[in-house]
Amino acid sequence: FDRLSFQKNLIEWFETEKRNLPWRLDNDPYKVWVSEIMLQQTKVDTVIPYFNRFIKKFPTVEALAEAEEQEVLKAWEGLGYYSRARNLQTAVKEVVANYGSRVPKDPNTLSSLKGVGPYTKGAILSIAYDVPEPAVDGNVMRVMSRVLKIDEDIAKQKTRKLFESCIKEVISQANPSSFNQGLMELGALICTPKSPSCSLCPVQEHCAAYQQGMVEQLPVKSKN
Ligand code: ADE
Repeated sequence: FDRLSFQKNLIEWFETEKRNLPWRLDNDPYKVWVSEIMLQQTKVDTVIPYFNRFIKKFPTVEALAEAEEQEVLKAWEGLGYYSRARNLQTAVKEVVANYGSRVPKDPNTLSSLKGVGPYTKGAILSIAYDVPEPAVDGNVMRVMSRVLKIDEDIAKQKTRKLFESCIKEVISQANPSSFNQGLMELGALICTPKSPSCSLCPVQEHCAAYQQGMVEQLPVKSKN
């Protein structure tokens, strides 16, 4: 597997084809954090207006930390999974109280924050701080299960760790932000669950599933 060629194709494609999304205007770690929490259970098109209103209302960690919980929940109304909003505010208060209002760059410190799991940690570190950490969600598992022809059940909890180790091996050290966002974007636009657009894929030549005609069989996902 030619990882340098894979990285180059993925990153160049992302940088030319990426959608203009409001959380991509800068790499402010707070905005990356808010966007990734919103995007975990909600689709991009739905998130966009909520993200814009939320950032207008609470532009910084300090603003969010000082807000009334009811104001925060009101801004979240319609997005659902309200524990995401409560946890985010709890975590942001901790950032203000303990870390000088700066979103931590240390992986263990980030992980200790309420609502920050392995995915959110990896997304903040790679996108905001250019640290080569994997950020594995369902989209990324679908893409990499096809590229590397991995047939582990992605419904199983421990499978994410397998993908994290694989991505640690192939992630770009020079541009982990565009690498990780490229995987997310590929999963959203090209490497879709049904009828993926392999003819348009920038990493088709690297894709084991494509080469073997197995794209529609992957990823393996049990229904439990
Ligand atoms: N899904 C999860 N994170 C995303 C991001 N940063 N951009 C677009 N879609 C995403």
